[in-house]
Amino acid sequence: MEFKEELKKYQEMVNKELEKYFKTYLIGSTTCYEKTLNDSKEYSLMAGGKRLRPILVLSTYKLFRDDIEKCFPYAIAIEMVHNFSLIHDDLPGIDNDDFRHGKLTNHKKFNEATAILAGDGLLNGAYMVISNDFMNLIAKKRKRTIDDIKVDINDIDKKTRVFSEFASAVDRMIAGEYVDTEDEGKEIDINELEYIHRNKTGALIKLCVRMGAILGGANEEELKSLTSYAENIGLAFQIKDDILSEEGDEKVLGKPVGNDKKRGKCTYVSEYGLEEAKKILDRRTENAISALESFGNKAEFLRGLALYIENRNK
Ligand code: IPE
Ligand code: IPE
Ligand code: MG
Ligand code: MG
Repeated sequence: MEFKEELKKYQEMVNKELEKYFKTYLIGSTTCYEKTLNDSKEYSLMAGGKRLRPILVLSTYKLFRDDIEKCFPYAIAIEMVHNFSLIHDDLPGIDNDDFRHGKLTNHKKFNEATAILAGDGLLNGAYMVISNDFMNLIAKKRKRTIDDIKVDINDIDKKTRVFSEFASAVDRMIAGEYVDTEDEGKEIDINELEYIHRNKTGALIKLCVRMGAILGGANEEELKSLTSYAENIGLAFQIKDDILSEEGDEKVLGKPVGNDKKRGKCTYVSEYGLEEAKKILDRRTENAISALESFGNKAEFLRGLALYIENRNK
């Protein structure tokens, strides 16, 4: 299958699952007092993001196993966290942006209090989805044979490891956002800039690949190679975000161009200049692709994703 076609299939699959999970876990009752809060969560979650993070979970898992539906809860949970991070990132106290995905940002469409709480709700929604997966695992275990229980125990081990990495990655994303916000208007060195990028953006991207790999049953060697792939695309992703903030097309991007500069943000573009930033992006993409060597043809889609990140225009 062509890369673009496969990407579209994954995006459709994720959107369908997101809707299902949203209705199951986040909507409560449609007549409840907090109906507007539910609407605001749905507004941001279903606004048309690229779904890169869930796709990374599913396609990394697919290197090892075909039953990708087994990792839906983790793919959905990370997209909820991602959307929480975007709603809060756009707030007046952080980036103060008015547009995302070509629509008003959550606090502009609703209000600041609603946006803060919608973000909180999506973050917690992620943990509701994951904890429910653990509950299902335990419920199933009770009805199974000894051999199945052995598999289940293995699953619990893997899922507990994934859960712990999940919580730590969210912590790192928040830390990166904090340093990014605090550093606005300041001169910072390259190490601090890389620290921000590795945390605010890289941590969740690395988590996605590692979740897919761990759940799929990767051995430690495979996990190491995939982690290197993930670290490189994680940095590449934010470098490209910085480049698009400088020279992207606002209509395609769906969010403002030029705001990083206006706000005095230190980015790869402000630090290195546009041309050098593009070279670094290229090197990161090459490193990511080389990290996949041992996986052969099976990793074709992940290679495609690295190139997609480098060449995207939104
Ligand atoms: C934007 O992420 C925020 C960053 C971490 C740079 P994406 O560009 O993946 O957001 P959507 O969900 O596809 O809009
Ligand atoms: C967003 O970073 C990172 C997180 C939300 C964690 P940016 O502020 O650089 O991303 P955009 O450009 O608003 O999407
Ligand atoms: Mg920001
Ligand atoms: Mg922002």
